[in-house]
Amino acid sequence: MRISVFGSGYVGLVTAAGLADMGHRILCVDIDESRIKRLRAGQVPFFEPGLADLVARNLRGERLRFATELDEEFASADAHFVAVGTPPLADGRADVSAVFAVGHTLAQRVTQEGIVAVKSTVPVGTCDALQRLLDDSCPHRMHVASNPEFLKEGAAVDDFFRPHRVIIGVDDPKTGEAMREMYRPLQLSRERVIVMSRRSSELTKYAANSMLATRISFMNELSRLCDAIGADIHAVRAGIGSDERIGRAFLYAGPGYGGSCFPKDVSALIHLGKEAGVTLGIVEAVAEANEAQRLYVWEKIRSLFADGLQGKTVTVWGLAFKPMTDDVRDAPAGVIVTKLLEAGAIVRAHDPEAADNFAAAYAPANDAISYHVNEYEALDGADALVLMTEWRHFRNPDFGEIKRRMRGRGIVDARGIWTMFGLSQAGFDYRTIGSPAA
Ligand SMILES: NC(=O)c1ccc[n+]([C@@H]2O[C@H](COP(=O)([O-])OP(=O)(O)OC[C@H]3O[C@@H](n4cnc5c(N)ncnc54)[C@H](O)[C@@H]3O)[C@@H](O)[C@H]2O)c1
Repeated sequence: MRISVFGSGYVGLVTAAGLADMGHRILCVDIDESRIKRLRAGQVPFFEPGLADLVARNLRGERLRFATELDEEFASADAHFVAVGTPPLADGRADVSAVFAVGHTLAQRVTQEGIVAVKSTVPVGTCDALQRLLDDSCPHRMHVASNPEFLKEGAAVDDFFRPHRVIIGVDDPKTGEAMREMYRPLQLSRERVIVMSRRSSELTKYAANSMLATRISFMNELSRLCDAIGADIHAVRAGIGSDERIGRAFLYAGPGYGGSCFPKDVSALIHLGKEAGVTLGIVEAVAEANEAQRLYVWEKIRSLFADGLQGKTVTVWGLAFKPMTDDVRDAPAGVIVTKLLEAGAIVRAHDPEAADNFAAAYAPANDAISYHVNEYEALDGADALVLMTEWRHFRNPDFGEIKRRMRGRGIVDARGIWTMFGLSQAGFDYRTIGSPAA
């Protein structure tokens, strides 16, 4: 099939390269000229394991091309995927203007009937509105399908080729069949496609992310209770996670969920409820608990310094919102570093992939904040170390080296990955979340 993919971000580029690898001919379109220039040269503009090889292979095989506009060849493509950003507006609703901008482009340029598959996360009713726009302004019959994306940054390539499920929302069976055909190569081992209405499909995406966020907020609330009553959240997690009805995933207490999806999708769902006149009290509480957890971590850091943070040096390990990505959108580290700087602290930060993005989004390097390639060098003269992202190389660090490099002894382990090292006995002022300091 010939398919165009609009958007070359985490979702669009993985989709484009993945579909190309399945033998489809792909044009990936993005309005960001410098990004397209880099992609044409085989450079992937963000860190995603395995993606650079996938892109290079399909560029070489001439199944994948990049452009800033839909060209003549792909104006008659069988399908057009929409994978543009839908960031939050100031009031928490999703900004779907980029989705409709693609709709207008398609209305003007397509030369043949085809499918428009919306991968972007969009509020319920967006696909219906896009269908109306195309019905009204496109001379060719276009069939809008909702096809929300469930990949995880850091494992996106694997998730593309081995999805737990592919959700397809259509309002006519023929489009459903054509979409199923497109995903046929992923169906060899088992049926993965679930077809439903467009509205149900759009809501499924928000429901999935909000359910996962609910589990995290629930555990975060319990972690605060654990601290107050002397229980251990890790033991509680092991205890409840072994119940098959509950399962082990997404039960880790930490500094609150972040990233480009959970915060924005939770708040978009709350708005969806408001617009429909339905109060989503659980989802609202999930967002509130997340805010509270970020502040809870901040209070842990503050509590290390009886006489304030002014002039204190604090090392932060981990800036990305989770390991294996360079994405810093809504990262908990953004809140903590901003607060540290506001309190007058000197920050020495290390992240193996996300430092540049973090500097651009939150705090360019200056007298108050510096970024270090080596995690131990970042500790020189530090009064405290704060662990924000559980990258693998932080899991078993050399605590002797940490002690030698630091001036003070404070450690805040916001991910609870060092509870078993006996750091209090080793002379550190060790604080973590939901677990008695060991
Ligand atoms: N990142 C994730 O992990 C993830 C997972 C599932 C779903 N999603 C959803 O997928 C969508 C895309 O997310 P992302 O993280 O890939 O976004 P992103 O910000 O990384 O990339 C979006 C890209 O779209 C481009 N773009 C904007 N307007 C355009 C237009 N009119 N034509 C062509 N390109 C245009 C931008 O230049 C940018 O390169 C969002 O709705 C998001 O909620 C993201």
